[in-house]
Amino acid sequence: MIKSSLKQLVIWLLLLWERLESGVVYNLASQRTRSYPYDVYDNLRERDPVHRLRLLKAHLLTSYEDVDRVLRDHRRFSNSRRGFAFTELRTLLHSDPPSHTRLRGLILKAFTSRAVNKLEPRTREIMDELLDAVEGSGRFDLMRAVAFPLPIIVISELLGIPSEDRKKFEDWSNRLAKSVEPVLSDEEISGIRSAWDSVYEYFDAVIDERRTDPKDDLISSLVFARDEGNKLTHEEVLLTLLLLLVAGNETTRNLIGNGMLALLDHPDQMKALRDDPELMGSAIAEMLRFDSPVQLDGRFVEEDVVIGGKTIKAGMQVLCSLGAANRDPKVFSDPECFDISRSGATNLAFGRGIHYCIGASLAVLEAKSAFSGVLNRYPSIRLVERPEYQDQLVLRGVKELWVEVTR
Ligand code: HEM
Repeated sequence: MIKSSLKQLVIWLLLLWERLESGVVYNLASQRTRSYPYDVYDNLRERDPVHRLRLLKAHLLTSYEDVDRVLRDHRRFSNSRRGFAFTELRTLLHSDPPSHTRLRGLILKAFTSRAVNKLEPRTREIMDELLDAVEGSGRFDLMRAVAFPLPIIVISELLGIPSEDRKKFEDWSNRLAKSVEPVLSDEEISGIRSAWDSVYEYFDAVIDERRTDPKDDLISSLVFARDEGNKLTHEEVLLTLLLLLVAGNETTRNLIGNGMLALLDHPDQMKALRDDPELMGSAIAEMLRFDSPVQLDGRFVEEDVVIGGKTIKAGMQVLCSLGAANRDPKVFSDPECFDISRSGATNLAFGRGIHYCIGASLAVLEAKSAFSGVLNRYPSIRLVERPEYQDQLVLRGVKELWVEVTR
């Protein structure tokens, strides 16, 4: 009790210091910031775009220009000092060149756009099955019905995971995804650790199986990927599988959930999309910009650097706010307006530079199937109640999305 009051007091004093120093505050512990961060971002971008966070050894960047610059400059802003919160092992995402270049080259040999595009008819079929399962309900939670299962089924089939293991997979993926959050409770840390142990053991055995008995799936392709005589070690394949599980599910789920919510909140835009399905590509780009599934992307400063007139010392962290950059009025006119025919600058929702999302085209393909599936089946769809967002800072998405539909 005394310990927790003391902790609260320390947090309060640090936030007060932050406010006195810059006139603004980014309270990562606040429920309000987590549920609707966009006002806070606007305030920060206007008044202190390179903002020293006193609760972390970090600066928060909120302008498009600064975020873009940091993500492109992998020499001065490294990814290799961070990793999954509980292990020293380095995945593709947690490495710098030359190790990153080698890993990415090998992974791309397996994760080809041909392999991804082949999935299109299957994702449409899965969508039909998912919507058949709620047929006649009139009212359902779109997250449970579509946004949760679709990415899990797709990645499981792509990897070659049998359907009876999917539930386990979903549970591991949900727990592991928490590892990207900067603030974790003891309970979350132990959930991540136990999921890590289970998934490690599971993939360890599957990789050995594929080595002796290859199948037409992504795990076998990763095991046998070759690039000028180079190949992935057993542990590298394992870490890549773990990364795909963490990076691809909650993110795509949130694109489907946040995107559908944006359409429901803007009936004129939903109508425009129904009238002209050719707009689907730009509609998905706008959904990614408007309510980005990944809000923050961290890097470590390798050498003292000046950003926005402020010197940031080597060893400090910079947190790039993708959500804020994607609403920067210098780059996107009327950024708070959801406009599915928007053109111009590319948003930063999938990152930028050498770590640009490997699964971007897969995520977009899934989202296209999800939105077309729902819009084609239901001429009328409306929101039943305002959804709540997950209590998270990095991955932004709603808990449930209750809709009422008529056919
Ligand atoms: C809407 C869905 C998605 C969003 C918003 C998203 C976002 C991102 C972002 C922002 C990064 C860059 C991280 C950084 O710079 O540190 C990234 C990297 C990555 N993503 Fe995604 N992602 C999505 C879906 C997927 C899917 C479906 C997969 C695979 C199944 C995937 C696999 C990866 C991998 C492996 C990386 C690391 C690439 C590297 O380090 O070179 N992502 N993603």
